[in-house]
Amino acid sequence: MNLPAWLRFVELSMLAAWLAWRFYRPWLAGRRQALVPLLAALLAMAQLLLEAQAATDPFTGLLQVLPVVAASPYGGLSVAVFVLGVAAAACMWRLRKPEELARVSAAVLLVCSGAATAGAADAVSAAASTGEIAMSPTLAVPRSATTTPNPYANDPASAQRGAQVYQQYCVTCHGLNGDGNGPAVAGLRIKPPSFRNPQHFLAPGMDGAHYWVIQHGDGVPGGMPAWQGTLTDQQIWDALNYVKQLAAR
Ligand code: HEC
Repeated sequence: MNLPAWLRFVELSMLAAWLAWRFYRPWLAGRRQALVPLLAALLAMAQLLLEAQAATDPFTGLLQVLPVVAASPYGGLSVAVFVLGVAAAACMWRLRKPEELARVSAAVLLVCSGAATAGAADAVSAAASTGEIAMSPTLAVPRSATTTPNPYANDPASAQRGAQVYQQYCVTCHGLNGDGNGPAVAGLRIKPPSFRNPQHFLAPGMDGAHYWVIQHGDGVPGGMPAWQGTLTDQQIWDALNYVKQLAAR
């Protein structure tokens, strides 16, 4: 089990125990038990942040992913648990005998967190696969592309083969040294990026996304063409590994 799943487990057990004790025994009686809904609220928020963090990538930060996750039923319920938990804790702290409120809060929080738990896995995999990564203002890549592994990541011969592909098909726009100033650039609507940008092209876990771009292009006339069909899958990986070599220089 991963950390968010453990947090959910702890939260649900804690709320269930609280509800049971509220009916049968005077445990933690009085306002001190305001700590329980507060803790439940914090656990719900910690889960949401950890799950959203798992759906980020080097070009899409947490702040861009959070609204997507928060808009899902799982995210909405987690936010509700947070708000209700904090509100219940605040009210209990002010009451001298918060027994009734404690029972209602425990029951409501338990139901909401249970429902959120049920939807968590779906919401997170959806956030991780539906979103798009903005590589440039005109270039959006499906996030699911990042899961394609680079089959030649540890094969030095791949970049060597890629140099030939690059000189034949890419150099007119991207330039011999990858600076984006090839002879054909004057006729383009969109300026090719410089490959001499290790932060962008060597970002961990992004090979699949760059591969997707070479396959599909940016879909803009006068932009990056699609190479699927013209080049084989291996040639595309080879070209990408050569681009990464240019970026590393
Ligand atoms: C007709 C000109 C042209 C040719 C030929 C061309 N590109 Fe591009 N390429 C572009 C432009 C323009 C962009 C910028 C696209 C954008 O931002 O919309 C680009 C962007 C890219 C990117 C950046 C994508 C990212 O991940 O940020 C890569 C990688 C790339 N090209 C690889 C190649 C490879 C490999 C070839 C040869 C097989 C090639 N290009 C051939 C014009 C070209």
